[in-house]
Parts: sequence; structure tokens; C-alpha cells
Amino acid sequence: MTESARVLLDVAVDGTEAMGELGARLAAVLRAGDLVVLTGPLGAGKTTLTRGLGAALGARGQVSSPTFVLARTHPTTAGPDLVHVDAYRLSDPVELDDLDLDWDAAIVVVEWGRGMVDGISDSVLDVEITRATGAEAGAATEADDPDDVPDEPRRVVVTATGPRWDGVTL
Ligand SMILES: Nc1ncnc2c1ncn2[C@@H]1O[C@H](COP(=O)(O)OP(=O)(O)OP(=O)(O)O)[C@@H](O)[C@H]1O
Ligand SMILES: [Mg+2]
Repeated sequence: MTESARVLLDVAVDGTEAMGELGARLAAVLRAGDLVVLTGPLGAGKTTLTRGLGAALGARGQVSSPTFVLARTHPTTAGPDLVHVDAYRLSDPVELDDLDLDWDAAIVVVEWGRGMVDGISDSVLDVEITRATGAEAGAATEADDPDDVPDEPRRVVVTATGPRWDGVTL
């Protein structure tokens, strides 16, 4: 990350619903041209957060994992389109560029976008989701199905880079 990286938020998020609420909290500061990058392992909650973010923007259509679509554009009642990208299968940042997204007019949220968006914008909101350390005994997942992950806390760190975020708080 560059010079002006600043941590806006470092919180424990306890449960699916709370992750959606965090998405809504992010949505409240977002506007056209903003770029949000979501990082975290499979099943971390990236899509869950995006769903809450989309709901808060009044996004039309189902916000779901766009894995096989690469990018999905949702018109919103808030104004700018929400463009939800899944870069999981991208091997090269150039491929993101090839999508010809209207980066300036939309709010763009990129799952697995770290390392893929460099140079696209000088300002990025980086959201890193990890399993909370020190999870209580008994909280271990028994599920193999990623859609069947039990509610358990995640740690979410939101880091802002670039002039767009000067003075912005969450
Ligand atoms: N604290 C939590 N925060 C977010 N999701 C949680 C939490 N606890 C349990 N979950 C569950 O974990 C799953 C997260 O799935 P989600 O699709 O959002 O992850 P993802 O990071 O987008 O995964 P992928 O890398 O496959 O796209 C959901 O089934 C959700 O209900
Ligand atoms: Mg996902």
C-alpha cells in the first residue's frame, strides 16, 4: 500500500447479520467513483458484506457470488450503479481492465481484488476479513459446505488509501 494508508475501522463482526450491517455502514460513505477491495479466504463473508452494502444502496437484483459472471452491475436507488466484481479467477490485472467498467460513474466492489486493482484508482478502500483469533473452544466449524458455515466472529479491518478518504470516518 502507498503513503497515506489509514485504518478506518478494526472490529469484530459477530454473525452474518452483523456483517451485512457493516456493509451498510460502508455504503453510507460511498459515492460514484469509489473502489472497494474485499480480501479474505473462501467463506470469509465478502459477499455477505456486499449484500448488506447493496441493500443499503437500494441495489436492484440479487447480490450473490458473481464467481461465474466476473462482474455484475446493479442499478441502485441511491444513484450510482453498484458493480460487484469477483476477481477470484482472474490471473492478471489487465483482465479487469478488459471488462471496460465505468469506474468513475459506479461504486465498484471487488472480491479477491487485492493486487488486481493497482493503478486503476489512486484511492482504494481495502476491507480485510479474517476469522477472529482466539475463537472459543467449540466454535470450530463442522461444515464442509461453505453455505453452511455457522455464525462465528470475523475480524474486519478497513484501510483507506489515497486522497478520496481524507477526513472520512466510518
Ligand atoms: N461473522 C460472520 N460474518 C460473515 N459471514 C458469516 C459470519 N459467520 C458466519 N458466516 C457465514 O459465512 C458465509 C460467508 O459466505 P460469503 O459468501 O459471504 O463468503 P465470501 O467471502 O464471499 O466467500 P467466497 O470467497 O467463496 O466468495 C455465509 O454462509 C455466512 O452466513
Ligand atoms: Mg463471495
